[in-house]
Amino acid sequence: MISAQEFIARQDRLLAQCQPHSVCIIPAASLVTRSRDTEYLFRQDSDFWYLTGFEEPNAWLILSNHPRYGERYRAMVVQEKDKSAEIWQGKRLGAEAALARFSLDEAFELQELEEALLESIQGHEHVYYALGCHAQHDTLFKDALTTLREAPKESLAPKAIFDLLPILHEMRLFKSACEVAVMKAAAEITARAHKRAMQFATPGCFEYQLEAEIHHEFAMAGARAPAYSTIVGSGSNGCILHYTQNNAQIKDGDLILIDAGAEYQGYAADITRTFPANGKFTSAQRDIYALVLKAQKSVLDKLAPGVTLTEAMLHSAEIITQGLIDLGILSGSMADNLEQERWRDYYMHGVGHFIGLDVHDVGNYKSDGEDRPLKPSMVITVEPGIYISEDSDAPEQYKGIGIRIEDDVVITATGVEVLTADVPKEMDEIEALMRAK
Ligand code: GLY
Ligand code: MN
Ligand code: MN
Repeated sequence: MISAQEFIARQDRLLAQCQPHSVCIIPAASLVTRSRDTEYLFRQDSDFWYLTGFEEPNAWLILSNHPRYGERYRAMVVQEKDKSAEIWQGKRLGAEAALARFSLDEAFELQELEEALLESIQGHEHVYYALGCHAQHDTLFKDALTTLREAPKESLAPKAIFDLLPILHEMRLFKSACEVAVMKAAAEITARAHKRAMQFATPGCFEYQLEAEIHHEFAMAGARAPAYSTIVGSGSNGCILHYTQNNAQIKDGDLILIDAGAEYQGYAADITRTFPANGKFTSAQRDIYALVLKAQKSVLDKLAPGVTLTEAMLHSAEIITQGLIDLGILSGSMADNLEQERWRDYYMHGVGHFIGLDVHDVGNYKSDGEDRPLKPSMVITVEPGIYISEDSDAPEQYKGIGIRIEDDVVITATGVEVLTADVPKEMDEIEALMRAK
C-alpha cells in the first residue's frame, strides 16, 4: 500500500522540478459511457492516481510553489456531497474530509471548479498542465486562461505554459521500494491465476472460460480487475498478438497462449505463458517452446544497468534467428537473416516495455535521440515470442504455433529481480503442474 506520505513526497518532488512561481493542474478521470446510461467500470487517471491515490472521478489536483503560499500549496476540487447521487452511485468523500485526508491547504467543490482554477492560476508565472489529453479538461483550462488574459486581470495571467508530462512520467519510470512491493503483489496474484488456468484447461473448454478462471483468481486474491483485456488464444489464435475475442473452443493438441495481468492498487502485472491444452507438449511444440524459452532466459541473464532495450531485443533476435535456421524455418546464412531482419516474419514485437501504473507504462525509451540505458528501479517486461501462422512458409509441423513467454522484472544494481517467477515456464514443470490437477 502506498502511504499518504509517499503521495505527498511525490507532489513535493514534482513541485521541486518546476520553475519558481509555478502552479500544476492535474485533473482526474471521468466516467465513460458504455451504453445509453451505463458506464464502464471507473478507472482513475494514472497520473492523478500517482500523485494522490484518490479513487473518485471528476477531481482536480492543484499544486503551487509560489512564495505567496510559503512555496507549498496543495488544493483539490472534489465532487460535492450529494444525497441523491450518493444513494444511486455511492459515497463521496466531499471537500471537508478531503482537506484532512490529503493534507490540503484548500478544498473546493466541483461546482466551484471554474473559480478555483482562476484563483489558483492567477499571479503564477508558469503553469504546468498536460494539454491535449482530454478535450473537456482542456476547454476548462483554456477558458480560465482566456478570462485571465482579459483586462483588468491581464497582469495576473501566466507568462508560460509547460507540459507537465515529461517531469511526471520521468518520475513514474523509477519505482520506489513501496511501488516495487505493490507490483510484486500484483505479480504474485497474476501467477496464481495463470497456474489456476493451467490446471483448469482441458480440450473442449472455451477460451473465455479460461479467462473467467483467471479473473476469478484475481478477485479471490484481492485484485478486482485485470490491468488490460485478457488474451486467451488457443491453436493459431496464439499467433494474434493482441487477440481478445476469446470465443473459440479449445481443441486437443492445441497450445494455449494466455497473456493476463492483474491490476493491484493501480499497478499492473503482465504475464504470458503458453501450455498444451491436453497437458503434453508435442515434439514440434517443444522445438519452438525451447527456442523462445532460451531467448527469454538469455535476455534475463543479460539485463543489467547500462544495457538498452534495443540491445536486449537484438540479443533475443539473434538467438531466435539461429534457432529458426536450425529448425529449417528460416533458410540462408545467419548474417543475411540478421541483416534483412527476417526474424520479424515470426517475432513481430519488441522484447519488452516499461510497466507500472499502465501496462505499457510511461517514460522515454530514448534520450537525445539515443537508446536509453536501463537503470535500477525501472520495471520492464521480457517477452520474446515466435508466431508461425498457418499461411507461412514454415515446415508443416510448425504451422499454427504461437508461443510467448513473458515475465516482469525490476532492474537492480547488478541485474534483475524477476517479479513473476511463481508461475512455471519450464515445459516439464508445466506438464507436472497440469498433471497435478
Ligand atoms: N499484454 C500486452 C503486452 O504484453 O504487451
Ligand atoms: Mn507485455
Ligand atoms: Mn502481456
